[in-house]
Amino acid sequence: MLTLGIESTCDETGCAIVRNGSEILANVISSQIDLHNEFGGVVPELACRRHIDVMLPVIDEAVKQAQITLTDIDLIAVAHGPGLIGALLIGLHAAKGLALTLQKPLVGVNHVEAHLYAAIMSLQEPIEFPAIGVVLSGGHTALVTMHSPDRFSLISQTVDDAIGEAFDKAAKILGLPYPGGPQIEMLAETGKSTHVFKPGTVKGRPLDFSFSGLKTAVLYAARGQNGNEESRVLTDIEKANIAASFQHIAFSDVIKKTLQAASQGGSIHVVFGGGVTNNQKLREMFGQLAPQLKLHWPNVGLSLDNAAMIAGLGHHCYLREKQDACLHLEAVTRLPFSNTTRGPQ
Ligand code: KG4
Ligand code: ZN
Repeated sequence: MLTLGIESTCDETGCAIVRNGSEILANVISSQIDLHNEFGGVVPELACRRHIDVMLPVIDEAVKQAQITLTDIDLIAVAHGPGLIGALLIGLHAAKGLALTLQKPLVGVNHVEAHLYAAIMSLQEPIEFPAIGVVLSGGHTALVTMHSPDRFSLISQTVDDAIGEAFDKAAKILGLPYPGGPQIEMLAETGKSTHVFKPGTVKGRPLDFSFSGLKTAVLYAARGQNGNEESRVLTDIEKANIAASFQHIAFSDVIKKTLQAASQGGSIHVVFGGGVTNNQKLREMFGQLAPQLKLHWPNVGLSLDNAAMIAGLGHHCYLREKQDACLHLEAVTRLPFSNTTRGPQ
């Protein structure tokens, strides 16, 4: 079964062709980093216009790379949320147009759930469920119980910034370009964790995350106790030490809470998703601090936003539901996990 997946939730336009939910025949991504760089973050209106410009060429390129024709496609999958409304609509309408023209079924996929599926489609051998899912992206930070590749219950999430967002904001404070995550990772390699920042805690919900305090700690370290010493000039070493300290605390916090969730859920399999999982230091620290867990990371090219994960999860969702969403499918800016029951922590 061949699925064509479309991704346009934020600032990447993607189209992928995936066979039977895991064999990637093409995974084309057009990044907009150049476009948003000068603004230090994603400008929704610009993102939307760029999606319009590149959506059809990206689809054409995916079909070409997969060496198929559009009529070979059995299913169209599209990320219909969560994300920026204008950006989502471009992908959704392209998907509906294809489904109607080709007379093929259409399935809507939750972008955040698909991030976890990226690790599932990277597996060499099947894993045991339930597993703990760890989402670390620019818009979301959550721990979930994965009952299957497409069934979840929420354990905990961030009460303020997502971890990727905190990386981007910390980078901005240190004068680094957008997106800040890879920049912080690079800078941290040359620094030492000399600052004693505190991880965020949430009263009564020990597994929830909070990253806004950590971001403020970076601001104070860079610009003085009130954060208003704008003219303060940091040396390269000072910047690197702040980056290393921030990264170390953020990742230690994620690891500690993941270990707790795994022990409470009686699961040793941990599935990771989201752009921050591209960070090699995160992978290294998890390996060192959680040797008792079996860690499943997305393959190269599947951590950041991509359409292969959308096509892959779309395949599973369609086989489960056997329902063609077609013209009824809507773009949803906030889309919770499929099952949002939250238990005590
Ligand atoms: O999952 P993603 O591609 O998009 C969302 O769904 O949000 O994640 C993007 C986020 C950005 O905040 C970016 O700074 C962060 O992932 N990121 C990283 C790294 N690469 C990307 N954060 C830390 N280290 C990295 N190497
Ligand atoms: Zn994403």
